[in-house]
Amino acid sequence: MKSKKNIKQKSLRTKAIHGEADSSSWEFSHHLIPPMTASTTFRLESLERGAQGFSTFGATKKTDKPIWIYDRLEEPTTKMLEDQLAALEKGECAIAFASGMGAISSTLLSLLKSNQKVVAHKTLYGCTYSLITNWLPRLNIGHSLIDMNNLKELEKSLQAADTRVIYFESVSNPILEIADLEKIVLLVKNANKKREKDDQIYTVVDNTFPTPWALRPIDWGIDFVIQSLTKNISGFGTEMGGAVIAPKSFEGILRAARKDFGAIIHPYSAWHILVYGISTQAIRFEQQQVSAQKIAQFLEKNPKVERVIYPGLKSHPQFKQAKKYLKSPEGKFAPGTMISFQLKGNMGKCQKFVNDIAQNSYAITLAVSLGLTKTLIEVPGYMTHSAIPSNKRAESGIDPRAIRLSIGLENVDDIINDLESSLKKV
Ligand SMILES: Cc1ncc(COP(=O)(O)O)c(C=O)c1O
Repeated sequence: MKSKKNIKQKSLRTKAIHGEADSSSWEFSHHLIPPMTASTTFRLESLERGAQGFSTFGATKKTDKPIWIYDRLEEPTTKMLEDQLAALEKGECAIAFASGMGAISSTLLSLLKSNQKVVAHKTLYGCTYSLITNWLPRLNIGHSLIDMNNLKELEKSLQAADTRVIYFESVSNPILEIADLEKIVLLVKNANKKREKDDQIYTVVDNTFPTPWALRPIDWGIDFVIQSLTKNISGFGTEMGGAVIAPKSFEGILRAARKDFGAIIHPYSAWHILVYGISTQAIRFEQQQVSAQKIAQFLEKNPKVERVIYPGLKSHPQFKQAKKYLKSPEGKFAPGTMISFQLKGNMGKCQKFVNDIAQNSYAITLAVSLGLTKTLIEVPGYMTHSAIPSNKRAESGIDPRAIRLSIGLENVDDIINDLESSLKKV
């Protein structure tokens, strides 16, 4: 058995490589790498054990040894991934899903009932916006979209009796606004003091952009943290997955939601994210971040560029807030791997530039998604955020000309040269 001595004092970096010294999901006496299970159903040695498995599913108090029943309920590889995610985000437990959207929809549907309301930040990933504004209303679940950093507006929303969930992205996609977690949590806690236990308001934060290597929202008092594992945590563009990191008291309802809605992650994907993604994420993320800083500085100096938004630039409208919240586990400034920028001139210029990159760049690829080893470029207003109706995009703060860059692991000079070459042509 691997030594468990002083495991609590070990850094996140080391835990990301080794995980728990032993896991109730598997024994590590001999395995260096956790096994990938591939069984949709599990042998039960007695009816009593089967019945016990069903009756204790999702319960806070577990049986001595886990009773695996059926993949859609729980399975060992996913459970090991969940234990690692909970440790990295410093939460009590994690539940993994088939995708980030699987995690977001299951979490919101677990926390909200009809005639209740989610108050969300006005700028959201396109499919989250669509979930909240198209699908939840069908179940009579209301919403209001506000500027989460306008504390007066938030305070007013917290007074509404039907408000149950406050939802936002810690660093917003695509315009990289930084949420003031400390102030938001304080207002929610004050509002909750006047509410009954069953009426409490919960904070749910999508932490996909910063990842645990730049921000750990639970440290700031946030209740639920969402990750699209498809992005930087998985990191190679081969797996889809999502997770919610949650208080233990909500583990049961979230596991039941996953069981009944069926958005389970495949053990194959869970294994890849656990073995390749998590153990290499810190080093990938931090290298990409070094390149992102250089690329943002290059773009800011280019005369054809109107505006660059990157939390590592002094010109970021919330630079002070970025320095407060975006930090590595060791406390170093961690502005992340995502850049938003726009060119001077009209949409035609943006189109010409992006098409030139798509056709002539080697280092940069026109594609959605983010956080991968390859540098990706896209235009959110026309691609990832196109679910937001065009008349609402201005309200969401999304300029149609805004270009999003997700920085990969290529040589930074190659990325800059490709950007420069296409900029010269517009
Ligand atoms: C911030 C953010 N949250 C959630 C999602 C959804 O994740 P997935 O594509 O894994 O469902 C995305 C996808 O781009 C995203 O950018």
